[in-house]
Amino acid sequence: MSLCTIIINMKKVAKLSLFLLSLLLTTGCGNTKSNFSKKNKEKHSSSTLILGFSQIGAESAWRKRNTESIQQAAAKANIQLVFNDAQQKQANQIKAIRSFIVYRVDVIAFVPIVETGWDNVLKDAKEAKIPVIVVDRKIKVKDESLYAGYIGEDAMQEGTKAANFLLEKFKESEDPHINILEIRGTENSSVASERSLGFTNTIKENPRFSIIYSESGDFLRSRGREIVSNIISDNQGLNINGSPIDIIYSHNDAMTLGVLETLASNNIPSENELTIVSIDGEQKAINALKDGRINCVVECNPNIGPLLMYLVKTIANRNTIPKESYIEESVFTENDDLSTIPPRGY
Ligand code: AHR
Repeated sequence: MSLCTIIINMKKVAKLSLFLLSLLLTTGCGNTKSNFSKKNKEKHSSSTLILGFSQIGAESAWRKRNTESIQQAAAKANIQLVFNDAQQKQANQIKAIRSFIVYRVDVIAFVPIVETGWDNVLKDAKEAKIPVIVVDRKIKVKDESLYAGYIGEDAMQEGTKAANFLLEKFKESEDPHINILEIRGTENSSVASERSLGFTNTIKENPRFSIIYSESGDFLRSRGREIVSNIISDNQGLNINGSPIDIIYSHNDAMTLGVLETLASNNIPSENELTIVSIDGEQKAINALKDGRINCVVECNPNIGPLLMYLVKTIANRNTIPKESYIEESVFTENDDLSTIPPRGY
């Protein structure tokens, strides 16, 4: 080993130790979590790429699978992953990204909890010449060159697919008013906005449909439970000011599962009475689809890891990546042969 290689290795180890320290200092031990363990550090070699990744948290089974997919793919690709869990706070994500910049990781990737507020920290990353990949949710920035590319789902299409299922299901219906309750995801997140927009733009093809109530459930099961429980107690049943709810369109399975719990505890059968459309494709939602308690599940694919690692390597080799890369997704409905769906893994 030449002196030069030894010095580079020493610099890397020093850089990584400082980085660990920085994460502890800037995020606080109890506030956010990092998986930058001693064991990982020892495995590191000077040729390994370092990816700083800020995840938003663990709000759903979908999100947990998304994290696993990224961790597994990084290990397989021999990429050193510095993982930060922001515990649902944008401020924690900004702190984590700043730490990644200070200690000069090779590439930064993050799931933006909301769309806006990233310009300053991404300008810093650009000045430090560290490429940034936006994962799963999109961002709005004044200067598009602040990030290299987006990889994830097409949330607009997911909303469109949900609406298309309903247009088809109700095309023979003679009901003059088909009333929809929409339970939205996290306020100001791109997925929630796009799932709403794709849905409303499509559903308006049939003027008998109307969204009579819409509320954000923050992608949480507890909020799905709470929203429907409040509606039932305020209106003495599943209606809004006397207008019956015919359809529940929920932006994710976690909230939908919460809704199903509330319906069951109020002895309101979801089979036949109500049409429920959900997004994600968690095993529990697929089981409910099989039981007839949900009518359609639009898949949102959490298995982004392998494609992300491919993009990380591409960009680290100074090649450009597409501005948008979408992952394949399908739709599961009550009209399909559901016996052929393989275990979902989340
Ligand atoms: O951003 C993707 C969404 O976030 C998933 O639909 C949801 O389950 C998650 O929490």
